[in-house]
Amino acid sequence: MSRIFLIVAICVMASGATAQTALERGRYLVTTIMACGNCHTPKDANGVPIKDKELSGGATFTIPPFNGTASNITPDPETGIGNWSDDAIKRAITHGERPTNARLPGVPLAVMAANFFKAILPDDQTAIVAYLRSVKSVRNAVPDPVYRVPVRHDHYPEADAGYTPDMMRDPIKRGSYLATIGHCMECHSPRERGVSNYGPTGLGKGGRRFSSADVQGFPANWPGATAPNITSHPEKGIGRWSDVEIKRAIAQGISRDGRQLQPPMGYSFYRGITAPDLDAIVAYLRTVPPLE
Ligand code: HEC
Ligand code: HEC
Repeated sequence: MSRIFLIVAICVMASGATAQTALERGRYLVTTIMACGNCHTPKDANGVPIKDKELSGGATFTIPPFNGTASNITPDPETGIGNWSDDAIKRAITHGERPTNARLPGVPLAVMAANFFKAILPDDQTAIVAYLRSVKSVRNAVPDPVYRVPVRHDHYPEADAGYTPDMMRDPIKRGSYLATIGHCMECHSPRERGVSNYGPTGLGKGGRRFSSADVQGFPANWPGATAPNITSHPEKGIGRWSDVEIKRAIAQGISRDGRQLQPPMGYSFYRGITAPDLDAIVAYLRTVPPLE
C-alpha cells in the first residue's frame, strides 16, 4: 500500500513540475506576446476586443499593395479554419501559405508576419494550433482580399537564424525570441520605399507611421501613431529608461513622460506577459545597437 502511495505521490509531483499544457502555452502565446487578436478579433467602439467574437475576423487593411481583413481563424468549418489540418495552420502562420482546401488556394497571405513567425519553435506551433482549435466557433465570412502587387515579406535576420529550446534558458536569447515572434521590430523599424530596414542602419530606429487611412477597426477617434526609436541609444532611444519604465510602456501603454500610448501596439495583450518574460524582453532590448 505505502509503495503505491509513494509512486502516486511521485507522479503527482512530476506532473506539477511540467505545469503548462500545450493548450495553456498556446493560450499564453496567442493572447499575450503574439497578440493575434489585435488584428483578428473585432473591437468595440472603444477599441476593446469583443470577448465572445475572439479571432472571428478583425482589422481591415487599406494599404497600397493590399485591401483585406484579418481572417476568421475560429474553428468554424465554412468561414473559419475548422477544416484545415494542423500542418496547414502551421504553414499559414510560419510561411504565409494557404492550403489547397481553403478559399484562394495557393495565394500567399498578406500582412501576417510570416517572416517573423517562421521562428516559432515547433512545440510552440503545436501549442498555438491547440489554442486556435479551442476557441469558440464563430460564423463570420470576411470579404475576399484584393492584391494589387504580389505579397512580399522582407527577411528578418534573427528569424532566419532561428532559435532552439536550449536558448530559452538564457534571458537575452529568450527575450530576442519573444521580441521576434511578437514582431516588435516590424513596427519599430523604418520602411524605406516600401522595404523594411531590419539591418544595422534600421533595426529598432522607429519612424513607421500608422493611421486610420491604412487600418480600420481601431476606435474612430484614433489619432494614429508613429513607432518610436526603441534602440539602446541614450537620447533618441530608450537607453536611459529604467527597466520599470520600459515594462510600463510595453504592458500598460504608458510612456516615460506619463503619456498614454496609442494603438496599434497591443498593450492590453502584453499586460498578460509573465514577469520573467517581460524582464527577458527588456534584457534583449538593452542589446539592440544604438541608432539615431
Ligand atoms: C498585423 C495583423 C495580424 C496579426 C498580428 C496576425 N494576423 Fe493572421 N492574418 C492577418 C491578415 C490581414 C490575414 C489575411 C491575409 C490575406 O487575406 O492575404 C491573416 C490571415 C491569417 C490566417 C489565414 C486564414 C485564412 O482563412 O485566410 C491564419 C491561419 C492566421 N492569420 C493566423 C494568425 C495567428 C495564429 C496569429 C498570431 C500568432 C496571427 N494570425 C496574427 C493579420 C494578422
Ligand atoms: C503594430 C505595431 C507595433 C508593434 C507590434 C509593437 N509596437 Fe511598440 N509602439 C508602436 C507605436 C506606434 C508606438 C508609439 C505609440 C504612441 O506614440 O502613442 C509604440 C511604443 C512603444 C514603446 C514606447 C516608446 C516611447 O518612446 O514612448 C516601447 C518601449 C515599445 N513600443 C516597445 C515594443 C516592444 C518591446 C514590442 C514587442 C513586444 C512592440 N513595441 C511591438 C508600434 C508597435
